[in-house]
Formats: sequence, structure tokens, C-alpha cells
Amino acid sequence: MTAVGAIGFFDSGVGGLSVLRHAVNAVQGLPLLYVADSAFAPYGRRDPEQVIERSRSICRFLIEQGATAIVVACNTATAIAIETLRNEFAVPIIGVEPAVKPAAALSRTGKVAVLATQGTLRSARYAQLLSIHGREITVFPRACRHWVEAVEEADIDSPRVHDLVNAELSPLHASGVDVYVLGCTHFPFLTGAIRHVVGDAVNIIEPGAAVIGQLRRRLGLDHTPTTASEVTLYTSADTTHLHALAQNLIALDAPCHALGF
Ligand code: DGL
Repeated sequence: MTAVGAIGFFDSGVGGLSVLRHAVNAVQGLPLLYVADSAFAPYGRRDPEQVIERSRSICRFLIEQGATAIVVACNTATAIAIETLRNEFAVPIIGVEPAVKPAAALSRTGKVAVLATQGTLRSARYAQLLSIHGREITVFPRACRHWVEAVEEADIDSPRVHDLVNAELSPLHASGVDVYVLGCTHFPFLTGAIRHVVGDAVNIIEPGAAVIGQLRRRLGLDHTPTTASEVTLYTSADTTHLHALAQNLIALDAPCHALGF
């Protein structure tokens, strides 16, 4: 088993909380540190160099705070920056990628939607993923505009957000898509609005549980967990806002500090 201290998580904002929530009772009480880079969200429309620079600074910070493993709880940062991060930092770094492989195995119509950011969909990593696992299916990629911003404002169930989701998904539903891959960690918080459009007969794949399963394997955490983890939150934006959002989105009441860069 790898020697482990705290586990660091980061995302452009609160999306990665959809991954973090699966870790709280799954890692033997190891402390969890979460950075929301909300002052720089959304990453999906930023210059790749800037996403790499922010990801690098955040990893350095998490390691300084005691992280001995890092979860890049952001598809966009994984797509753009994970290779650089793995080259530059010695700790294990786990990423999150659109679940095209399981989607291809699940689909009966052979029509799969990948809902992600522009940054993810334009990346070389995503192109490679599709060339390996997407050959037997028709993939409908959608860069769902304004969804990330809505979640950052805790707007997950308003008429406005239902309209945004409906505009993006009803054409896909009409085309016979039967698997929706949530390729952005903000989107699991919109599952209610998504189900409202696509119904209960289709599959929606969110990656959180699988990512934490991979983290446990990577760290050799093979015992049944008995202790819950303490979480500490950090943000590059407003601490009161992040504290309230964590309560609102995943019922987490955790101390929240300003990131300072
Ligand atoms: N949560 C993110 C992802 O998984 C990033 C969203 C964004 O900032 O554009 O891709």
C-alpha cells in the first residue's frame, strides 16, 4: 500500500463536488482537501495554457497542504493538463474522462451523447478516446453552453435551467440517443433537469463512483471503509458562496478558506 496522507481534489469550480461526495465515506477517513477555482471558471472556454498554469499552481498548493494523491475532478483539466501534471509531480494523479467505453457497451440504439465542455471536446485526449472506444457507435458531442455557469450559481432547477437543458437535449432525445455521458463534473447536479427531458428509459452515466473506485485501487485501500473523512474547502472566489453551495449541492458543512492566488 502506498503511504497516504491527505487526498487533494480540484475543479474549475463546484463540479468536482460530484466526485468528492463519493470519497467522503470511501477512503478510511483520510483528510480530503478540495479546491474550487471558481474565479477562473469556466475552464472549458479558456486558453489551454491557462488551464495548465492554474492546474499546476493548484497541485503545488495541494501538495504543500499535505496531499499525497490528487484527483483532477474536472474533465477539462484532465483532457488538457493531466500529462503535464503527471510529468511534474511525483504523487499519484487520478483524472476523469468521458465514459465512452461503458456507454458503448450499454447502448442498444448505438447512439450516445457526450455532454462536456468545448475544451474537453476539442482536446487530443478526447479524440484518442473516441478513436479507441467510439468506433462502433454514433457519438453526438454537445458543448452544453451556460450549464457550468448555472451550477456555479446553484441554479439547478429553475425554469431558466430547464430551458437550457431542454434546448440542448430534446433534439438528441428525438434522434434516439439512449445513453447520455456526463463528461463534465458539473453536470450530475443537473440530473433532475436532464431526466425531465430524456425520461427514465435511457441511461445517464456520471463518473464519480468509478473515479473513487480507481483512487481506492491506486492507493491500495482495499478494506471496507469505516471512518468518514473530514473535508476542507478552498476557493479562488468567495468563501461564503462555496460554503453555501457545498451545503446546497452535497449537504456538506465544511470549513472554507480563500486560496490566495
Ligand atoms: N467541471 C468541469 C469539467 O468536468 C469544468 C467545467 C468548466 O469549467 O468549463 O469539465
